[in-house]
Amino acid sequence: MRFLVTGGVGFIGGHLVDALLALRHDVVVLDDRTTGGYRPPGARIVAGSITDAALVARLMGGMDGCFHLAAISSVVRCREEYLAAHQVNLDGALNVFDAAWRAGVPVVYASTAAVYGDLDAAAMDEDLPCRPINAYGVDKLAMELHARVLGQDRALRSFGLRLFNVYGPRQDPSSPYSGVVSIFMDRFRRRAPVTINGDGEQTRDFVAVADVIPVLVAAQTRAGTDAPVCNVGRGRAISINQLADAVARANGVADAATLITHGPPRPGDIRRSIAATGRLKRLIGLVPATELATGLAVL
Ligand code: UD1
Repeated sequence: MRFLVTGGVGFIGGHLVDALLALRHDVVVLDDRTTGGYRPPGARIVAGSITDAALVARLMGGMDGCFHLAAISSVVRCREEYLAAHQVNLDGALNVFDAAWRAGVPVVYASTAAVYGDLDAAAMDEDLPCRPINAYGVDKLAMELHARVLGQDRALRSFGLRLFNVYGPRQDPSSPYSGVVSIFMDRFRRRAPVTINGDGEQTRDFVAVADVIPVLVAAQTRAGTDAPVCNVGRGRAISINQLADAVARANGVADAATLITHGPPRPGDIRRSIAATGRLKRLIGLVPATELATGLAVL
């Protein structure tokens, strides 16, 4: 089969493209970051942006499915570059949806745990109300709502995955916008200073990229006009303080406390994040299970 993967040079996209190629599919990648990152060997890589509607439409023709992962995925960057991030995360997504319904192509897209905002609940369940507290979550929630309307109005088939905190090999630690696991791994490995934002008692549900890829692939055959969305997390949360301890241990650092300083809390930071996994189990039949220590060991 032929798949278009937007953001296929990115961290999750690169792993997805490798998996699709291993399954003997043809893959076309659309990504605006085509140098420096991982270039999945065997895919056709087109340099360009999802904000280019004509390009997206041209690439969508003849596809059997689309995985839409391209986004500005850093909560901090979306706050700092509010309008530019919105143009990619929502306007760009609409270009993908529009091209997909016109071409009759199903779309699996990355949404985020950030749609929930700060919930006072034991776990983030898809039936709970979404009240995002940062721009990234707002645009992703709007994207889900558009998928639903386009499903009803135009028979767009879609499946949205609310990804929790994904980590794994090839996640780039070099920018201030990088995921916390990649940053902590890089710093502890080099015995360099680590900054924890705030008191470090905020929690996250860390999920290994190796567990996320089969979910993405399986969702493709389950995309529908009813526009389902579901969480992709382990259903376990740890605090950022506990994460720092685990990453220090994984790197044989005995005196972690001497490397750690606490900075101010990060604006827009969610306090508690943990996935309810019942719907994922019901709709996809797979729940991520890799233990954090096991996932860290392959970084
Ligand atoms: C992450 C994802 C986002 C995803 C969301 C879902 C990244 C870059 N962002 O956002 O795409 O939709 O999860 O839940 O992966 N922290 C520190 N020190 C650091 C870096 C981070 O203490 O040096 C803290 C942050 O303040 C935050 C936590 O670690 O409390 C996680 O931060 P981060 O990895 O940036 O992810 P999220 O903001 O949760």
